[in-house]
Amino acid sequence: MMCREKWRTAWITGASSGLGRALAIELASQGVLVAASARSSDKLAVLAADYPTIRAYPLDVTDSEALSKTAQEIETDLGSLDLAIFNAGTYEPVGLAELNPDGIRRVMAVNFHGAVDGVLAVSPGMRKQKSGQIAVVASLAGYRGLPASAAYGATKAALINFSESIYPELRKSGIQISVVNPGFVETPMTAKNDFPMPFIMTADDASRRTIAGLMTGKFEIAYPRRFVAILKFMRVLPYTLYFAITQKWMLKK
Ligand SMILES: NC(=O)c1ccc[n+]([C@@H]2O[C@H](COP(=O)([O-])OP(=O)(O)OC[C@H]3O[C@@H](n4cnc5c(N)ncnc54)[C@H](OP(=O)(O)O)[C@@H]3O)[C@@H](O)[C@H]2O)c1
Repeated sequence: MMCREKWRTAWITGASSGLGRALAIELASQGVLVAASARSSDKLAVLAADYPTIRAYPLDVTDSEALSKTAQEIETDLGSLDLAIFNAGTYEPVGLAELNPDGIRRVMAVNFHGAVDGVLAVSPGMRKQKSGQIAVVASLAGYRGLPASAAYGATKAALINFSESIYPELRKSGIQISVVNPGFVETPMTAKNDFPMPFIMTADDASRRTIAGLMTGKFEIAYPRRFVAILKFMRVLPYTLYFAITQKWMLKK
């Protein structure tokens, strides 16, 4: 089945680079009318010029009012939204010594509030039409606390919990919510990492896996499979064993 048969319209945040950009291009190539948001209006303009079914809606997702105005604007311009992917995110690999309250709030504002405000902005319209699909891009880093990922991992764990929590109510209204938990993806976000990134994949590959998962409508879309299996196993380890492993990682650094 082509994406166009499932979704006529889609909104993607964080569409100026990496996974969001790849998702916008893949959906647009399959005939979906895509509203692309991010702060970099220049990058969005290039994307819209290259793909006639992509329209640019520049936005800072930490501005909750602008987010809800943009949702309304998209619905006015494109008609009802069939798919909304809240993918905008930020990440800095920092240890405890470099953590500061403002930095943590900033990551929370983009990754958590930027996505949940989006969910709250699109759900009334979808509820009215009794259909629609929402995807929240979290991460495998949201499964358990990982070294150098205290702020980022916490935002992703919160997103997973939030989505689990609202799933039944949305489902009752005919809306499907999914959480996307990628492993390492080759994007500007991971380019700054100076540690080995097992099973890293391209953004195009991650985008194809995300869309394939969304087509099935399942709640969790997690990849790559082998890395997911390892981290799911670690998720059920008792703390003594889990901390023995993460402490060993720290010693290696
Ligand atoms: N790369 C990975 O290994 C990986 C793994 C798991 C999960 N993820 C998640 O996947 C998502 C996409 O990440 P990526 O790897 O593709 O990173 P990326 O290339 O750095 O893209 C991040 C996107 O978010 C946008 N963004 C950041 N702050 C924003 C703000 N305040 N308002 C609006 N847009 C904002 C950026 O655009 P502007 O700067 O133009 O605003 C950009 O389009 C993120 O949620 C990330 O946490 C990534």
